[in-house]
Amino acid sequence: PQVTCGIDIGGTKIAGAVVDGAGVVLEEARVVSPATDPEAIETAVAALVVGLAGRHPVSAVGVGAAGYVDASRANVLFAPNIAWRDEPLASELTRLTGLPVVIENDANAAAWGEFRHGAGRDVDDQLMVTVGTGIGGGVIVGGRLVRGAFGVAGEIGHLGLVPEGRQCGCGNRGCFEQYGSGSALVRGTREAAAGSSLLARDLLERAGGDPMAITGPLVTEAARDGDRFAIEQLRELGQWIGYGVASLTAVLDPAVIVIGGGVSEAGDLLLDPIRETFARQLPGRGYRPQAEIRGAILGNRAGVIGAADLART
Ligand code: BGC
Ligand code: NA
Ligand code: ZN
Repeated sequence: PQVTCGIDIGGTKIAGAVVDGAGVVLEEARVVSPATDPEAIETAVAALVVGLAGRHPVSAVGVGAAGYVDASRANVLFAPNIAWRDEPLASELTRLTGLPVVIENDANAAAWGEFRHGAGRDVDDQLMVTVGTGIGGGVIVGGRLVRGAFGVAGEIGHLGLVPEGRQCGCGNRGCFEQYGSGSALVRGTREAAAGSSLLARDLLERAGGDPMAITGPLVTEAARDGDRFAIEQLRELGQWIGYGVASLTAVLDPAVIVIGGGVSEAGDLLLDPIRETFARQLPGRGYRPQAEIRGAILGNRAGVIGAADLART
């Protein structure tokens, strides 16, 4: 049976795995991403691949990249949060590793992983939302990944939610990911903590007294321990996400909406507010079947498992 290598290039880390045809991870590795330099990213990815391929009979590589991937699945056209502009990622990685390489959008890869082997296994129509540095989307309709005419469908992070709102890395203002991403959570929590140090006392203590040292994982940790301020920050984030997915449901009518990405590790602390707002904002609510909102089952492995599978086809 064919084993392939899946790579997930995120805003902060690069993950790699060798995966078999059943979606089983045989070995995995991860490194911190040299986030800003395209060449350094390619060198780091190639080193991961070469290491893994030295220990397994890897036949191809699938790479999930946090950006707009063209229809040929070889080039990154643009990335709002990484310095890729017309980057020939597949050919560079093939040159460095000697293996065939397929590039896919990171959230598309995660969506495919959850659809094939995770939370969307039992349905044909799935919307995946990844909540991390940005907001990623992956749309499965009738069992197929929707790529669009030019390869860049499913860019839900850049859905315009707030006219004249916050500036986004894509060039627009008011995009969904400026309000519903992990970066938005951190920014909002730091601001709120700086403004009301009494309410944020527990969280600030965890951050060594410095609002700017507050991170996403710290917020989740405090919320899990019952800190009301941290729970409220996740609730506000979940409301934005619920609002966004209710609008997306007007277009897509999915059976299941899978919430993944780093921030989804908060579990029901994030999912419940998403569910509440979704149920309140869904057009025609009460008179239509309602999509189920589920947490990603594969966790942060969804991307590598999905990318590895996409390299096989
Ligand atoms: C990018 C997407 C990516 C998402 C999650 C967005 O800012 O436009 O391509 O999937 O972040 O990484
Ligand atoms: Na996508
Ligand atoms: Zn944007």
